[in-house]
Amino acid sequence: MRVLHAAAECFPWVKTGGLADVLAALPQAQARAGLDVRLVLPGLPGILGALRSRERIADLGAVMGAARVTLWLGSLADHGPRAYVIEAPLYYDREGNPYAGPDGREWPDNLQRFALLGWVAAHLAVGEIDPQWCPDILHAHDWHAALACTYVATHPVRRVRTVFTIHNLAYQGLFDAADFPLLGLPARHLATAGLEFHGQMSMMKAGLVYADHITTVSPRYAREIATPEFGCGLEGLIQARQAVVSGILNGVDEQLWDPANDPLLPARYSAGDLRGKAQCKASLQQALGLSIEPRAPLLGIVSRLTAQKGLDLVLEALPAWLQAGVQLAVLGSGNPELEAAFTEAARNHPDQVHVRLGYDEALAHALIAGSDALLVPSRFEPCGLTQLYGLRYGTIPVVRRVGGLADTVIDASGQDPARPATGFCFEQASPQALGAAVDRAISCYRSPKAWRALMQAAMASSFSWDASAHDYRDLYTRLRDA
Ligand code: ADP
Ligand code: GLC
Repeated sequence: MRVLHAAAECFPWVKTGGLADVLAALPQAQARAGLDVRLVLPGLPGILGALRSRERIADLGAVMGAARVTLWLGSLADHGPRAYVIEAPLYYDREGNPYAGPDGREWPDNLQRFALLGWVAAHLAVGEIDPQWCPDILHAHDWHAALACTYVATHPVRRVRTVFTIHNLAYQGLFDAADFPLLGLPARHLATAGLEFHGQMSMMKAGLVYADHITTVSPRYAREIATPEFGCGLEGLIQARQAVVSGILNGVDEQLWDPANDPLLPARYSAGDLRGKAQCKASLQQALGLSIEPRAPLLGIVSRLTAQKGLDLVLEALPAWLQAGVQLAVLGSGNPELEAAFTEAARNHPDQVHVRLGYDEALAHALIAGSDALLVPSRFEPCGLTQLYGLRYGTIPVVRRVGGLADTVIDASGQDPARPATGFCFEQASPQALGAAVDRAISCYRSPKAWRALMQAAMASSFSWDASAHDYRDLYTRLRDA
């Protein structure tokens, strides 16, 4: 089974969120499961700079408005799968993240930049660029790579099957329909049954309409996006394609996220010996300038600061928690109003609240290990990885019961002895509901025996990528043999 993954991010070279973690871990797990896996990635500076033992596969000349496009094949990691990297200096040799410049503004030529990724992925997949290696499956991730599915579907050679994974339906890649001719597709594809979406052009639809199969990153999100509440206006299309939509849960990269073996922690620990966790907490409190108080419940947040993540609820619930002696440590960046509000809270309560704005991999590990509980009050969450890291680190997740959060955290009120509790869930996206869940967590925390049992159950829950890799393999096999 040969699989080509097309995506815009891959940890640690280019990352804005969990997508990068998935593209680092899933292909490796698939390789362990015996699949022949490669990636195709845009030649952003972080990726092109990291590519080793590279060979030039093709000079593609001018594609999608980029004058000089070269395709390389090489290795990004010693043991990782090989990656095709698209060198196109005009589009990819830029500062900032894959989608926006350092000032946060999206690049005006994102349509061409990601159409190039989709075009190269599709032509690789049909065997036109590197005939030595033809995949059975082209697996495109999020709107950035979605056009690959359209180019394959409209190509006369159609051996390869396509899978499109929605990591987040809210980011749709909407562009001016007047730019449709840039894509080089027949005009009929700019229609309601094609890429058109309310007068614009939707790259998300390039995957949803044209892929042979659609997956989401949790089973529950697959059901949610067929409803108006979570469907972002695409619920009708999702319903129409229901027969080919399924959810496969993300996993944890157990090499990177293991409290017993994490070089980014001041002390290591396991479910059997939790002493190191207390040390992690004390070090975190000290590093962040919080009062070093072993019995103060320390709540952690590691997150993009966006409306999706529901962190405005935290700000509203915070005053009551502070009265109860709770501490809060936040690592994140994004929305300027949220950044300002958290900064203000930290300024007013330096002993109890600390906020670090920005992206910091080492602090993310230290914060997840050192906190007692991890807050993930998302309005929607396709899967969510931080709650999985929290579970593994015995840092009890307090989550809203949506998407992958609902699929991975078992609420402490549950009575099923076969499914021991691993965290706290709440229903409504309100500060009251979040507050009540945190109150339950705090009162459990005050009885050390019950809290320890919760931590041990959380740490025993398993979300390995190997299980997901097997589910993907079953899916690929069905598609290939259909
Ligand atoms: P999303 O992809 O929606 O942002 P996930 O929970 O799937 O949410 O993945 C987020 C990933 O980004 C996790 O690996 C998390 O640790 C990481 N992350 C988020 N914010 C930061 C930050 N400020 N610094 C370091 N890592 C972060
Ligand atoms: C998206 C989602 C997140 C998911 C991640 C990786 O960014 O917001 O829930 O975990 O993709 O699939």
